[in-house]
Amino acid sequence: MILMENIIRDGHPTLRTRAEEFTFPLSTEDKTLAGDMLQYLINSQDDAIAEKYGLRGGIGLAANQVNCLKRMFALHLEDEQGEQLSFVACNPKIVSHSVEQTYLTNGEGCLSVDRAIVGYVPRYSRITVKFMTIDGEEKKLRLSGLPAIAFQHELDHLNGVLFYDRINAKDPFTEIENSTPYKRD
Ligand code: NI
Repeated sequence: MILMENIIRDGHPTLRTRAEEFTFPLSTEDKTLAGDMLQYLINSQDDAIAEKYGLRGGIGLAANQVNCLKRMFALHLEDEQGEQLSFVACNPKIVSHSVEQTYLTNGEGCLSVDRAIVGYVPRYSRITVKFMTIDGEEKKLRLSGLPAIAFQHELDHLNGVLFYDRINAKDPFTEIENSTPYKRD
């Protein structure tokens, strides 16, 4: 079971290192890690379990964050239609994206960043993505809203990028060009 003590924090070099592509089939160890990463997110969204184990709530977790340099992340969240999205993406890619941008009006957070960092993080509003499941099946999805934002945040992790790198340092709340803000309840 992944706990907060297993999640590395900002300042650790693994968070700044590009993760490596998988070759298939995945090892049993990697499949287990994938399951554990997704389970962390599910647990962290359950009030009783989160309180019992001191888990900070999250909707995404990348392998870098548990000190593993492989191109894999888990997402567990609801889309705008209230449909549950829950998967582990291996070797994820954005194959196309909207010109329109978006950003979370309250900014982004990260399980590896303990302090609150304010400012708008520009993201594509809509993306078409491809990835492999842990069983080696290719998936193609179109994402918008929060799932699109979360996918881009996690993909950044695999490239050693943290959300605050994308905030305008001079003016964190400067208008994002060609964007529709996204307000998360
Ligand atoms: Ni993060």
